[in-house]
Amino acid sequence: MKIGILTGGGDCPGLNPVIRAVVRKAHCEGYEVIGFKNGWKGLIENDTLKLDLGAVSGILPKGGTILGTSRTNPYKKEGALEKVKQNFTKMGLDALVAVGGEDTLGVASRLTRDGVPNIVGVPKTIDNDLSCTDYTFGFDTAVNTVMECIDRLHTTAESHHRIIVAEVMGRHAGWIALEAGLAGGADVILIPEIPIDMDEVCAIIKKRHQRGKTFSIVVVAEGAQFKDKDMVTQEEKLDEFGHVRLGGIGEFLGGEIEKRTGYETRISVLGHIQRGGSPTAFDRVLGTRFGVKAVELIKNKKFGRMVALAGNKIVDFPLEEAVKALKTVDQELYDIAKVFSG
Ligand code: F6P
Repeated sequence: MKIGILTGGGDCPGLNPVIRAVVRKAHCEGYEVIGFKNGWKGLIENDTLKLDLGAVSGILPKGGTILGTSRTNPYKKEGALEKVKQNFTKMGLDALVAVGGEDTLGVASRLTRDGVPNIVGVPKTIDNDLSCTDYTFGFDTAVNTVMECIDRLHTTAESHHRIIVAEVMGRHAGWIALEAGLAGGADVILIPEIPIDMDEVCAIIKKRHQRGKTFSIVVVAEGAQFKDKDMVTQEEKLDEFGHVRLGGIGEFLGGEIEKRTGYETRISVLGHIQRGGSPTAFDRVLGTRFGVKAVELIKNKKFGRMVALAGNKIVDFPLEEAVKALKTVDQELYDIAKVFSG
């Protein structure tokens, strides 16, 4: 049996533990593993890396991905789909493990219907916005990184009696903002799921001042939106998966807060720091469990499925179902955050 593996979309901590687990489990089963470099690009161009035990030794604590990644969409490139099919056959692949988020797994799901059926998906993303799984790996590390940043912002905000706005990633879901905001004790948390009401934000901050709290931490998700304003973007141009580049809302929000409250305000855009670094124990273990399960699915010929976490069990769902809709923040969690607002 020969298994291919690729990692696509934005990188995140935990990708290397998945690659390692796939190779180690495949070795136990007597299967061979070949890596494709830079996501779907590697399968289109047949750019490969042999993955034996030596190749994955020592990669468990490393962030990023030893395979590299890209946001290449074979459905958006002339002749690319044919190349994918040809290379699948040419390399003698029996199965492919696609590790990615909604875009990479969206392609995996389409390929499953379009004549490349032997694919198994593994859900990754710091955004935690994939359906059918309680958590994607990468999210926990990002949340811990953001929490640490919020802790640091707290001490300087308090000393200077300032408002600090921390802009975080997450695309169109507020998971990072909400969980890191809760963990870091943010005073205001703004997420894409709930339109921003500036009067309410300023009222919370002013109320804090009245009770002697002359500083506030506001966490805003990059995809959050004002009630009466278009989404703030860095770049309107769409990528191959139809996404604009988000970012910049913190700057606008901070300006408005300072103007309306008169309190000195600073903005901190956390950016790609959130995607870097060594995976937490949770992400190492989750990635490892996902990788092992992916090979088990292949062994049992359960293709067109995505491995997933349900409670504390590793399960699997049809790829199609996993990419149908984004998993956004539920009201229950938001209501908990509201208790600590202000
Ligand atoms: O999907 C992961 C993510 O980090 C999003 O949170 C963010 O909007 C996007 O990727 C940034 O992408 P890039 O690395 O291409 O700037």
